[in-house]
Amino acid sequence: MSRNPMIARTVPLLRRAVDGLRARKATVALVPTMGALHDGHVSLVRLAQRRADKVVVSIFVNPAQFAPTEDFGSYPRTWKADVGKLAAEKVDVIWNPGVKIMYPDGFATRIVPEGPATVGLEDRFRPHFFGGVATVVGKLFTQVRPDFAIFGEKDFQQLRVVTRMARDLDLGVKVIGSRTVRESDGLAMSSRNVYLSPQERRAAPELYRAMKEAARRLKAGDDVATAMAAGAELIRAAGFALDYFELRHAETLVPVTSADGGPSRILAAARLGKTRLIDNVAV
Ligand code: PAF
Repeated sequence: MSRNPMIARTVPLLRRAVDGLRARKATVALVPTMGALHDGHVSLVRLAQRRADKVVVSIFVNPAQFAPTEDFGSYPRTWKADVGKLAAEKVDVIWNPGVKIMYPDGFATRIVPEGPATVGLEDRFRPHFFGGVATVVGKLFTQVRPDFAIFGEKDFQQLRVVTRMARDLDLGVKVIGSRTVRESDGLAMSSRNVYLSPQERRAAPELYRAMKEAARRLKAGDDVATAMAAGAELIRAAGFALDYFELRHAETLVPVTSADGGPSRILAAARLGKTRLIDNVAV
């Protein structure tokens, strides 16, 4: 049985809805999304429901995190299907502000994250990105005032950036990472996978396969440079243009040169035609 979530489109209505949820001391979890929901998002919602009594999902395609050359205009928007999925999951509130609500005329304040936002991964290729994410997520946190917020590990650097921001700004929300959900062939679920042509879709799982192979070699004791160079070669051989393929410390995201220097993570971004895929695996 599905249950229609309450849909809020202004801050006062959202506040009233969340105050209602909080009656009798219920805890609230927020799942921030840009819509075009897939099973990865559903798993975030389910984790939110395990952590908190009530769940708010935000759907807002945030112009501030897209460069003018990127896909803000064509980003998939599937509102009806999204509401259906969230109703099936019995989500309590959908927060769906318009651009003018989020960024009213005269908007002049931005959050500029440092630390994990400036380690030379996504920030090197999308310099506008984390400022846009931090600003909108900061706003979502102060609008909803959740106890918990759930982010997918697929955007691993983003997870580290918002975790740091919530701590640094005392936002009173515990950020929780949720495991990446994959298609049966290993491709990480992403709203942008719809951009892949059938031929690109067949090649796409090679990114994950190469990351797993590099992780296996590192665990087996291969030196970092050799294992990572072999992984990068596999990705290029599958037809990708590689942005980065790196071993980083799993907490700080600084480069690591040895797999036994603490928990580490392989992070990759690569382009297949016009589609840019990102992914990561633990080592
Ligand atoms: O990961 C996303 O979908 C977005 O970057 C987020 C966190 C919803 C902010 O717009």
